[in-house]
Amino acid sequence: MKTTSSLASTRARGRSVAPAAPTRGRGRAVFKPAKPARPAKPKPAHQAKPPAAASRTKPAGRPAKATAPAVVSGPSDGVLRGVEWRGGLDDGAIILLDQTLLPREVVYRSIRDLESLRAAIIDLVVRGAPAIGIAGAYGLVVHLSSVARRQLAGKGTSALDEPLRHAYERLLTSRPTAVNLRWALVRMRDCYDRHSGHLTAQEMCARLLMEAKRIHREDAELCARIADFGAQLLPEEGGVLTHCNTGALATGGVGTALGCIMHAVRAGKRLMIYADETRPLLQGARLTALELLRAEVPVTLITDSMAGFFMQQGKIQAVIVGADRITANGDTANKIGTYALAVLAHHHRIPFYVAAPYSTFDLSLDTGASITIEERHADEVRRPLGTQFAPAEVPVANPAFDVTPSSLITALITERGVIFQPDSERVAAWMNGLPGEPAV
Ligand code: MRU
Repeated sequence: MKTTSSLASTRARGRSVAPAAPTRGRGRAVFKPAKPARPAKPKPAHQAKPPAAASRTKPAGRPAKATAPAVVSGPSDGVLRGVEWRGGLDDGAIILLDQTLLPREVVYRSIRDLESLRAAIIDLVVRGAPAIGIAGAYGLVVHLSSVARRQLAGKGTSALDEPLRHAYERLLTSRPTAVNLRWALVRMRDCYDRHSGHLTAQEMCARLLMEAKRIHREDAELCARIADFGAQLLPEEGGVLTHCNTGALATGGVGTALGCIMHAVRAGKRLMIYADETRPLLQGARLTALELLRAEVPVTLITDSMAGFFMQQGKIQAVIVGADRITANGDTANKIGTYALAVLAHHHRIPFYVAAPYSTFDLSLDTGASITIEERHADEVRRPLGTQFAPAEVPVANPAFDVTPSSLITALITERGVIFQPDSERVAAWMNGLPGEPAV
């Protein structure tokens, strides 16, 4: 398992992984860095210098800076959606529900340029593996269409080659662990390659917007199918523990693990959902609790360290989580704390399920040992949500994900069925088109 940086280098490079800092015009930021003891105060992520390799060339149309995303109204149906596209190609924008402000405030931001989207992904305005992938796909569109509009009217697609490469790299490096981002960017680039040569730059952008919308729509369908399979695996009644947030806020649809829970409850299963608060950024407390309450699903919020206690008490009959990357042997990277839950579940003989679409599988890696683990800013631990809990100068480690070995996973729940006791052979058979086993 590789981490993106050691603590020391996180400090040195802190800017590229800095959480949201207060910025004028971008609204209130939640994760305000403390005054660091040593290096200069980290700049907001969107003002950070791009990595050396990316800064060497200045491609046509590259925005100098992120522009402050405008606050816009939410969807008219009142449903909380992490990401959506609003408008046409020329007047369109990516609309993100600012998840750093939930549950206190529901604020939607309109994103129209690459650097603002990159900052939003780094700052967790949009988060959750599938949602990051969808946002990334739309991000290529906003960048290329603004370049095409300003400079390339009537020109062929080759003029977009460099802006595409640039946007691809900028987005790919925004968060390293969730492979859905790479998957979506590769799919967009493949679409570009298929159509380059016979379209104008403007036509290409329209084609890419169609592809991004298709990725978005498909994710909703994948979620629905995963949810149906997973719902069957959950017990008729009892406690189900989940970690982080894997619902509509994290995906393009009903969610993965949370979708399974929603469908199970809708099917009449009598479940109490134990939502881990999910330190340090509290996605469970802030987002999962909110989504379950809004859906009127019974929920009890617990701190992460209470999971073992409730398992010992016989209150938990299943654990279900999402994934950020699943390797060829079924090892699974997910939000930090997932591995500890899997060990606890194993000890207590409680089934441990991972729900994820095919876009989360990374068969280029044999095992989870090769997964790059994102190391985030120390102040997320020292002063979560802006409140100082620890001495400002205390050294901190803050890996955002951990890896659960497949031997601890009862089943991977996918859109094509369930892979019980996952290992290299079973994952390969599933990937090669064999459906997973029916859920029951
Ligand atoms: O850091 P986050 O909030 O993006 O982490 C999210 C998770 O770990 C989710 O469990 C995972 O992305 C699956 S979302 C369907």
